[in-house]
Amino acid sequence: MYIRIIHGPNLNLLGKREPEHYGVHTLDDINRALALRAQELDVSIDCYQSNHEGDLVDALHKAAEDDADGIIINPAAYTHTSVALRDAVAAIQVPVVEVHLSNIHARETFRHHSYLAPVTIAQICGFGAHGYIIALEGLVQHLQSR
Ligand code: DQA
Repeated sequence: MYIRIIHGPNLNLLGKREPEHYGVHTLDDINRALALRAQELDVSIDCYQSNHEGDLVDALHKAAEDDADGIIINPAAYTHTSVALRDAVAAIQVPVVEVHLSNIHARETFRHHSYLAPVTIAQICGFGAHGYIIALEGLVQHLQSR
């Protein structure tokens, strides 16, 4: 089983960026924890980050071309703005889980709406970095039960 992890804009700054919302873990910490859990679950993962909307669209297409079994994405700010990312998720036949470190529904109203949520299998938010592990476990279970 092969799962691609896609991180959106400004997540390269995790650890330094608004720790009251996003915690103290860096993106490398998150990717390392995912790699460890993936090994335990006997799945392979790779992790990608970009600050550019079109690159994230390309990454979704590429995951499908590479026959990824599933995708975990934190679209970050593009969650709330990007029809292009939503259309890319809808266009591929790969189950996608949306993750947010913070509870977007408890923050500013502009963060309450996700363009991607209706085309994903699940949204996990509010558990900080551990949300990625929950997403991985949930996605693997979803794929195994198909
Ligand atoms: C985020 C929430 C978004 O609203 C914000 O723009 C981010 C990070 C999160 O992980 O909590 O950049 O996706």
